[in-house]
Amino acid sequence: MRKNIVAGNWKMNTTVPEGVQLAKDVCMAVAQTPGIKCQVILGVPFTHLTAVNQVIDKNYVMLAAENCADHDKGAYTGEVSAAMVASTGADFVILGHSERRGYYNETIDMLKTKVDLALEAGLKVIFCCGESLDERKAGTHFEVIKNEIVGSLFHLSADQMANVVIAYEPIWAIGTGETATSDQAQEIHAFIRSLLCEKYGQQVADDTTILYGGSCKPGNAPELFAKSDIDGGLIGGASLKCADFMGIVTAF
Ligand code: 13P
Repeated sequence: MRKNIVAGNWKMNTTVPEGVQLAKDVCMAVAQTPGIKCQVILGVPFTHLTAVNQVIDKNYVMLAAENCADHDKGAYTGEVSAAMVASTGADFVILGHSERRGYYNETIDMLKTKVDLALEAGLKVIFCCGESLDERKAGTHFEVIKNEIVGSLFHLSADQMANVVIAYEPIWAIGTGETATSDQAQEIHAFIRSLLCEKYGQQVADDTTILYGGSCKPGNAPELFAKSDIDGGLIGGASLKCADFMGIVTAF
């Protein structure tokens, strides 16, 4: 059966020393809190991966990068390959975040390549999808999400899908303080699971973790996580303070 996961996405925040301290604090808090019912993951900037990997205990906290390149190696100045990410000790990579799609023009095809390279490098993928406010108002949100998932993931085998976590992040809820209601999120999560079922069958659909992201906080996490198809969260702002993040980790 699928795992519950709470993953932080620090985005472009913290210096290396600040990030190392935050990772230590989270790891210690997780270790000292009995009965945690989810896998905790920290998504950190490339520059932090090696240092954070050295201070976390993988029995409590796993490590994710926030991106990787769409080429395996070579003359791509400034890029970081999936194999490089894996060599830091990272376990996961976040791909397809709306900030990367929007600000850095990442396309469905490019993300398909990144997914392949990440899996080949032995990383697990946290694949983000989600609609803009305009798309939701126009009623095209189901189609947008379907296109993102089908286009970048559905070439994978069922075995490969075991290494993919999907995160639904409505763009209008990211960093805005406006959360999708638990019913709105559940509706999309159930839809994503139905897509997985059609393509891969019930087992893969039941085994795939689907996270919600977008202004998730200690105050709204319990209601979101209580929904049958919401298996945890991908947390931006609230992952930057240990107490807030732990308030979400303990929300199950
Ligand atoms: P916030 O939690 O800050 O809204 O960000 C969500 C997000 O983008 C996680 O990837």
